[in-house]
Amino acid sequence: MSIKIENLACAYNIGTPSVYAALRGVSVTIERGEWLSVVGHTGSGKSTLAQHLNALLIPQSGSVEIDGVSVTPKTKSLRNLRKKVGLVFQYPEMQFFSESVREEIEFAPLNWGAGKDELDDIVKDAAASVGLGEELLAANPFSLSGGQKRRVAVASVIAVKPDYLVLDEPTAGLDAAGIRELMALLGRIRASGVAVVQVTHDLQSALEHSDRLLVLEEGVSVSEGTIEETAEFLLKNPVRGLVIPPLVRFAAGLRDKGLNLPLTSEVGAIVKALEEYRGTLNNETV
Ligand SMILES: Nc1ncnc2c1ncn2[C@@H]1O[C@H](COP(=O)(O)OP(=O)(O)OP(=O)(O)O)[C@@H](O)[C@H]1O
Ligand SMILES: [Mg+2]
Repeated sequence: MSIKIENLACAYNIGTPSVYAALRGVSVTIERGEWLSVVGHTGSGKSTLAQHLNALLIPQSGSVEIDGVSVTPKTKSLRNLRKKVGLVFQYPEMQFFSESVREEIEFAPLNWGAGKDELDDIVKDAAASVGLGEELLAANPFSLSGGQKRRVAVASVIAVKPDYLVLDEPTAGLDAAGIRELMALLGRIRASGVAVVQVTHDLQSALEHSDRLLVLEEGVSVSEGTIEETAEFLLKNPVRGLVIPPLVRFAAGLRDKGLNLPLTSEVGAIVKALEEYRGTLNNETV
């Protein structure tokens, strides 16, 4: 079970002088149960790609296949595909239309046939999993802080339990504790067999949490690989707007000096490599 994207292209304002090619032949496969981060500078095509993943945008050329169903203007089951792939928008306000947080979260489950008797539990579970207090369920979502809006947006999408969860810049507007909680939640969602696709400027969080990364530059996929492979690629081929975390640079520097360690921003792995190195030095001196 996967989303397969092949040679996907998308242009905006076709037929006008301001035509712009936002995606130029992107291919990637996303398997259920993995966490893929899509990183790239502003305008590199991340949100355009995200909107193809849940068939909000239909391929102009190339193909998108969701669990074996090809997305075309003629696809009859687009509605089902959109249930399968939940998309949390870059700007949470864009997905709000209810007057209370409770209504916002219960809208999709109701639409998909949840019984009235189940709704209260569904809303409370979804709200609790994103750390939204029950006292906020009666609030108007538009009146909340940026971080709270983000949590409502995530809760309203996970309330229908999608098989693929796509989040466009989910850490924007969250403080450090909020980011940590969200990353832990996404980790639990992935562990339950759901695919997590995190679209982000935040290379640090992508390198810390994902299984694989896709790097976009000017609508082109310039790298796809594991954390290690991506860090290696970016060290050799800097991409505008993507700042390599200092600890990864530090790890790379140590590796150049001959220490055996992964290109990681995990302090634990770096300390372990340093300890092993110290052990080697001690053995040499004995
Ligand atoms: N509806 C639209 N009409 C015209 N151009 C668009 C539209 N949406 C996006 N674009 C252009 O397509 C390019 C890719 O946009 P996209 O939003 O996919 O980038 P992004 O990587 O998500 O950027 P950001 O990091 O700023 O969110 C940009 O140059 C953008 O200006
Ligand atoms: Mg975007």
